[in-house]
Amino acid sequence: MEQPWWHKSVVYQIYPRSFADTNGDGFGDLRGVIDRLDYLAHLGVEVLWLSPIFKSPQDDNGYYISDYQDIDPMFGTLADVDELIAEGKKRNIRIVMDLVVNHSSDEHPWFVESRSSLDNPKRDWYIWRPAREDGSLPNNWSSFFSGSVWEFDETTGEYFMHLFSKKQPDLNWENPEVRNAVFTMMNWWLDRGIAGFRMDVINLISKVEGLPDGEQAPGHEFGNGFPLTANGPRLTEYLREMYEAVFAHRSDVFLTVGECPGIDVDFAGVITDSENPMLDMVFQFEHVGIDQGSSKWDIVPFDLKTLKKSLGRWQVGLEDRGWNSLYWNNHDQPRIVSRWGNDREYRVESAKLLGTVLHMHRGTPYVYQGEELGMTNYPFETIDQFQDLETLNHYKTVVDHNGDTESALRAYRRYGRDNARTPMQWDISVDAGFSRGKPWLAVNPNHTEVNAAAAIGDPNSVFHYYRRLIALRKSDEVVAEGKFTMLLEDHPSVYAFTRTLDSQGLTVIANWSDEPNSVSLDDSALPTDAVTLIHNYTDAPSASSEISLRPWEAVVYRWAR
Ligand code: NOJ
Repeated sequence: MEQPWWHKSVVYQIYPRSFADTNGDGFGDLRGVIDRLDYLAHLGVEVLWLSPIFKSPQDDNGYYISDYQDIDPMFGTLADVDELIAEGKKRNIRIVMDLVVNHSSDEHPWFVESRSSLDNPKRDWYIWRPAREDGSLPNNWSSFFSGSVWEFDETTGEYFMHLFSKKQPDLNWENPEVRNAVFTMMNWWLDRGIAGFRMDVINLISKVEGLPDGEQAPGHEFGNGFPLTANGPRLTEYLREMYEAVFAHRSDVFLTVGECPGIDVDFAGVITDSENPMLDMVFQFEHVGIDQGSSKWDIVPFDLKTLKKSLGRWQVGLEDRGWNSLYWNNHDQPRIVSRWGNDREYRVESAKLLGTVLHMHRGTPYVYQGEELGMTNYPFETIDQFQDLETLNHYKTVVDHNGDTESALRAYRRYGRDNARTPMQWDISVDAGFSRGKPWLAVNPNHTEVNAAAAIGDPNSVFHYYRRLIALRKSDEVVAEGKFTMLLEDHPSVYAFTRTLDSQGLTVIANWSDEPNSVSLDDSALPTDAVTLIHNYTDAPSASSEISLRPWEAVVYRWAR
């Protein structure tokens, strides 16, 4: 059976406001993306996922939209999108849009109408509830961005639900008119020439019946509605309906990836099963939560064995049905080389190791802008350097409750989303060639060393290593389709696995550590006549039953039986 094209493609995520600014207003724009298409083609990526560029009041940087069919002037115009699609096509690069339809902006005309009166025809397009009989909030859920999910609206004396900020009211997917409006809008974009959608928190669209209270931990002001709201009872019905209304009648094959916090591997298998199409793949969150506790701000030490267990389970779980998306980074996650690599003396080696491990898994890899340069977290010190509303809302709650602001700051430096959002580092010039104005968020001072111009000029850079990884997925059937088997599961600092397809195989060995390590592998895991396919030091250890690895050394062997 012919496999979908995205089995062999790598997706590159652009966060447009931080990518390239051409008009000097300090914010990246679409023209900046068009101007950099040759850079992206050189890297070898074939799909660009653009974080939202639609009209938005921009409090959560575009992740709530006030007009789904127009472009925010800060990014450009619809004509720029058309040009981007056309210029992308010339370079074999497809454009995937971000679909944010769990919620809209409170400034979307749908919500403006909905809140205007109890009997407005759009009233039921959002989730409205009166207070409970005792006058308390409709339920006890806390929002992802702190505080309650309920906001009181004076005009009609009821509360509306917002799982995120109060400027992000949740759409009521139970109403078929809402679903139709969304599907019509999706068709409109596909007709314009885009190649698919990344769907924001799509597994939150079907809310649990009756909206019951969530578990409330002692001392907490609100309960946790998340386990109740995620993967709700009508989710698969809505996704099937979307598939039928939008994708089924088209002959072009599109890429759809649903962001699904809290999804498990079995349910991901159901949603991404090509026998009963809904989505091509999902973004699951299990692996990016392993160094966080009950909240994302609880710092838990990184443990490689836990990571192996998690990713290994996803590889096996989606072996026969479904498909994995593979990611370390996106606009919500801190920079991977700072998080799980060594962004000081082994920045280059560890960035390459992280790329090797991810890209050699089975699935579609996602590269987030700057990851291909080994960009690092920003050296944030004080709270006024942060801009992200998730961080700022949380800080306000800590202050209001006389909490420990120092430990909160430690967590923001480590996990804060602004780490991913500092401007792309193009060159050594002031503000890294990102903008000739004042960038909306500070540029990392290490841009004098870590930047695209330097990386392109250095054959040993992370950039060129990523190019080779991306090319391998295209050229090597085993990378794209081979079966995954984890090796050395209990090793605390070596990540190793094989990929096999018929008589062909790959063995990946990566020393995830500042210390040297050696491992023993028998002939079934690594035949001694295997040859090196890619490695991150200038010389690689030859295949043998005993392999010695330098700090952060990663090597991939290719063999046939
Ligand atoms: C997930 C997005 O990735 C994140 O950036 C955003 O804040 C929330 N969804 C709300 O849309």
